[in-house]
Amino acid sequence: MRDIVETLEQKRSQARLGGGQRRIDAQHKRGKLTARERIEVLFDPDSFEEWDMFVEHRCIDFGMEETQVPGDGVVTGYGTVNGRPVFVFSQDFTVFGGSLSEAHAEKISKIMDAAVKIGAPVVGLNDSGGARIQEGVASLAGYADVFARNVDASGVIPQISVIMGPCAGGAVYSPALTDFIFMVKEEAHMFVTGPEVVKTVTHEEIDHEGLGGASIHTAKSGVADLAFENDVEAMLYVRRLINFLPSSNREAPPIRPNFDPIDRIEPSLDTLVPENSNLPYDMKELIYKVVDEGMFFELKPDFAGNLLTGFGRINGQTVGIVANQPMVLAGCLDIDASIKGARFIRFCDCFNIPIVTFVDVPGFLPGVNQEHNGIIRHGAKLLFAYTEASVPKVTLITRKAYGGAYDVMGSKHMRADINFAWPTAEIAVMGPKGAVEIIFRSELGDKQKIGEREASYRAKFANPFAAGRRGFIDDVINPHSTRRRICKALTMLRNKQVELPKRKHPNPPL
Ligand code: COA
Repeated sequence: MRDIVETLEQKRSQARLGGGQRRIDAQHKRGKLTARERIEVLFDPDSFEEWDMFVEHRCIDFGMEETQVPGDGVVTGYGTVNGRPVFVFSQDFTVFGGSLSEAHAEKISKIMDAAVKIGAPVVGLNDSGGARIQEGVASLAGYADVFARNVDASGVIPQISVIMGPCAGGAVYSPALTDFIFMVKEEAHMFVTGPEVVKTVTHEEIDHEGLGGASIHTAKSGVADLAFENDVEAMLYVRRLINFLPSSNREAPPIRPNFDPIDRIEPSLDTLVPENSNLPYDMKELIYKVVDEGMFFELKPDFAGNLLTGFGRINGQTVGIVANQPMVLAGCLDIDASIKGARFIRFCDCFNIPIVTFVDVPGFLPGVNQEHNGIIRHGAKLLFAYTEASVPKVTLITRKAYGGAYDVMGSKHMRADINFAWPTAEIAVMGPKGAVEIIFRSELGDKQKIGEREASYRAKFANPFAAGRRGFIDDVINPHSTRRRICKALTMLRNKQVELPKRKHPNPPL
């Protein structure tokens, strides 16, 4: 018996050592944690239970039969985050560069199957040289098995990917199929084809960072949600994100004890909107003042800043916030903002998270570039997502709600449940100046007359009451009481249920 126990301990120590001390030191030297150290930071202390520590690859080509590392380059299992179960796979770059073999993929698939059965999120910590080259198609099949599970789990359990090293070729598509992607600055790189291939094919010269570093994917491509300085910071933010989410679509998001009075009055909101309606103001101020304790977990802050998305809590309940930001592009909707908003809304809808929308939108961004790149198709995504979402939807118009963008941004017509407006709201087909220039084109030479026309248009439409008269706005509220009013609306909506006609699935404009 003693021998067996010793053998077990020996095998465990060997597995824990991964690719050996030399490679662990190299990982540390780069400022990276090892696969197991990352898990330690991610989970509550002593909560991690490892599975499949003794799994080995089955490759007998290129001398691989001589090199066996127990665990085969990925650490898998489950632990808890603030007491709730979460599954993890953490690729070990010290073992064959974290490359994915058939056995490595089987380990990932196993925890994903368990996570779906149990109803718990999966966190994937990616640090890998891609498909295990020595295994050929067996490793490609392994990737595909993981992709298929990513698709099956979509909308059932939250899936979070953290890129903490290389992630290239087919490897990018598992994270791309998940709900959130975080990246670690400088260490993480994501691309379908690397700089060398790009140079050969298109003669473009670019380094890893410029092609697929964290700053590119969080600001330019929109592939990733957030970038972090180091592994520890990334893990702590994964914990924070999980705290907002339900474990699966079978339950409501966790309610956090709330010590922020729901009837908190915010007099400063009465002067948030400037007198001159062409001046910007910071929509984040409204968000911070409405949510519990001013805590807003913003997603994609550096991408499409004209539309803010993120999670907050109101009376302890998680809400998804979507808001136009007048500080960027005057809050116009463009292609990137539409895609960003649509994807976020669809996530909230999958996971029973109510959507609160703050509107100040002068319209869609005009331009040849926007039209030629398909703003029609992409704008429709946002429209589709809002209409399709059956979770509680509360919308507040703070200032402009012009044209088609008024319809899109959580209007009553897109089946929002409660629509509020501040007295400063202007709900019309377009701004007074543009409107008058079109309807009274023949009078354009007469400055005084045009001025009068503009004033009369403003009096008629640049207010919330025309919409209020038709019931498109349920109430015009005082800015200082916004938190209380939204909170009451969300409480009333808690048991909202919507019956949708049976269909295989909708066909949104992808
Ligand atoms: N399959 C098998 N082994 C791999 C591998 C892969 N896809 N990628 C890396 N490795 C191994 C390396 O052989 C090396 O082994 P060693 O420690 O025994 O020497 C180890 O992992 C570390 O790789 P190394 O190249 O030294 O690390 P690096 O930090 O300099 O570079 C990469 C990392 C990922 C950029 C580089 O390894 C690479 O280009 N890998 C191939 C990527 C690829 O084309 N994958 C297949 C397509 S999906």
